[in-house]
Parts: sequence; C-alpha cells; structure tokens
Amino acid sequence: MKTIFSGIQPSGSLTIGNYVGAIRQFVELQETHNCYFCIVDEHAITVPQDRLKLRQNIRSLAAIYLASGIDPKKATLFIQSEVPAHTQLGWMMQSINYMGELERMTQFKDKSEGKDAVSAALFTYPSLMAADILLYNADLVPVGDDQKQHLELTRDLAQRFNNRFLEVFNIPEISIPKVGARIMSLQEPTKKMSKSDENLKASIFMLDEPKQIEKKIKSSVTDSEGVVKYDKENKPGVSNLLDIHSAFSGETIAELEAKYAGKGYGDFKQGVVDAVISVLEPIQKRYYEILESDLLDDILDQGAEKASLVANKTIQKAKKAMGLGRVRK
Ligand code: TYM
Repeated sequence: MKTIFSGIQPSGSLTIGNYVGAIRQFVELQETHNCYFCIVDEHAITVPQDRLKLRQNIRSLAAIYLASGIDPKKATLFIQSEVPAHTQLGWMMQSINYMGELERMTQFKDKSEGKDAVSAALFTYPSLMAADILLYNADLVPVGDDQKQHLELTRDLAQRFNNRFLEVFNIPEISIPKVGARIMSLQEPTKKMSKSDENLKASIFMLDEPKQIEKKIKSSVTDSEGVVKYDKENKPGVSNLLDIHSAFSGETIAELEAKYAGKGYGDFKQGVVDAVISVLEPIQKRYYEILESDLLDDILDQGAEKASLVANKTIQKAKKAMGLGRVRK
C-alpha cells in the first residue's frame, strides 16, 4: 500500500480552496492508501501568532479534518509539534538546503515582501516541510498548485541526501487535483483564495453560514459579457466560479457550460451557491458535534503515537547516515 503525507497550517479559518485543493482529495485517498494527515502548527509560527488563537485553530482544524470525512481508523491524524522528529529532521534538512534555493521560493517572496521583521523560520520553512514528508517515506503528496515549488525542492533534498550520505529517503510524487488546484479570490480572481486575505469578501470559509456564502458568491467579481464560459485569461471570475461549482457538484465544466447556456450570471451564481452549501452544511453540523465531544483528544493522542513510531525510525536512519550521535561500544 502506498503512503501519503499532507499537512495544513492552523493559521486561520480554512477556505474552500483548502477544501477543494487538499481535504477533498485526502478523504478519497484514505480508502486506498496508508495516510498521514498533519496539523502543521510549527509551520504556523513562522509568522506571528496569538497564542490562544493558535491553540483554538489547532483544535478547530482537527475537527474540520474529521467533519470532512477523515476517518481515524483509516488515516493517522496528528499535530506536528507533538512529534518532535519533525523539527529534528527539519534541522538536518536545513544543513543540506542551500540559501539560493530558499531565496527562489515564491511563497517566501510573497510572504516577506514589504515586511521588516521576517523570521528566519519563514525562510527555512521549506526544509521543515521536506522533513514532514520524508519522515514517513511518503510516495505521494496531495496538495494544491501553490505548494508545487516546495514539493519539487523536497524531491531535490531527498535525492541530495541519498546521494551524499546513505539511501534513506523515498522520492515522493506530487498529486495536484484536476479541478480546483487553485481556487481564486472572489474579489480579485487573478489572485489565490487565501486564509489570510484581509478582504473577507474574497474568501469563502468552510465555517461560513449559508447566508454569508450566498452573499459572497452573489457579490463576486465576474464580467459584463453575461456568458458562462470557461476562459481563464479573459473571464477569470466566471472560470473560477465554474471551478468551484464543478468541484462541489461533481459536474464537469462542459456539463455546466451547457446547463447555463443562454442563462444569466444570476442563475449561474445561484447554482454555485447551492452546490457549495449542499457540501458544507453537513460538514459544519458534524464539526460542531465533534468540537463538543471528548473524542478529539483521544484521536490526536493515538495519531501522535502512531506517527512517532514511524518518524523515530526514520530519524535513527537519518542520524546514522549523517554521522550524528554515537554508536554504543
Ligand atoms: P496551507 O495550509 O497554506 O494550505 C493547505 C492545503 O490547501 C491547499 N490550498 C489551496 N488549494 C487550492 N486553491 C487554493 N486557493 C488553496 N489554498 C490552499 C494548499 O496547496 C495545501 O495543499 N506548506 C503547506 C503546509 C505543509 C505541507 C507539508 C503540505 C507543511 N508541510 C507537507 C504538504 C506536505 C501550507 O502552507 O499549506
């Protein structure tokens, strides 16, 4: 059985971009793969966080994973900081990761641009991300399009380590969804929908109430042509709504174009609203039930224990390969 690793940062409320680009794939993949899904809280602290808010976001993300259909009997769900091997291997990865490689990361450039207090951890974030994946010898990493560059670097680092020291790591493949790999902002459809967008109308959050979802979709930016057609370059707003509709209803883009042929954006937007709400409403109901139950702590305890077993074995191999520590006489 192939192994999968993926992670999500508890850095704010999850958007439908996170759902479509990541979680939706995870739920399917857990049926046929050995899956590790992580709440990457150590990645979240690369930018300033409010301590109580972070704690809350970690719990909330765990509940979202479960409410969306991650089954702890099938997949291992855990918190990154509860498995110390992540930062251990992260440090080892930093030692083989070049400054030049890290400087080329577009996510670092975007997140640091115009800021004067940029943490060193934000810069070396991709080394930790590589460690996350390599600890479990993942074969496949399901992510949205924005993580592709980090994944390519992970592959380079694994290869470099294996060549320079001993063959310890598997070289992971990247899995990007066919529909919805990059859900765009509802207000600026040439920009990625993001948890941290200051314009709250730009993103639909997984816990938004149906009324808010409706309002945001209905006021999303389209164009004045009035034709529902997929054309990313000339009609980015409509194309984004088609991606969202397709991801949530399961209908193909071609089916949707035919369905809304000759109809205006009003009908089309209502269709998007209905598709999104029909998926999110039951998830939200389960989410609040899970948050209030005692189940969550047990699941996360067991997840950290299971993940540690695998991660600690890899750490031993990696330390041995690099000559760290000692061998008993
Ligand atoms: P994060 O927390 O920003 O996002 C979590 C997942 O959601 C995907 N995603 C999107 N997909 C489609 N459209 C969007 N608008 C959109 N926004 C986000 C992301 O691609 C990601 O799959 N560095 C990672 C977390 C991480 C990780 C890992 C992922 C740490 N270690 C190891 C995989 C493997 C991040 O910041 O994701």
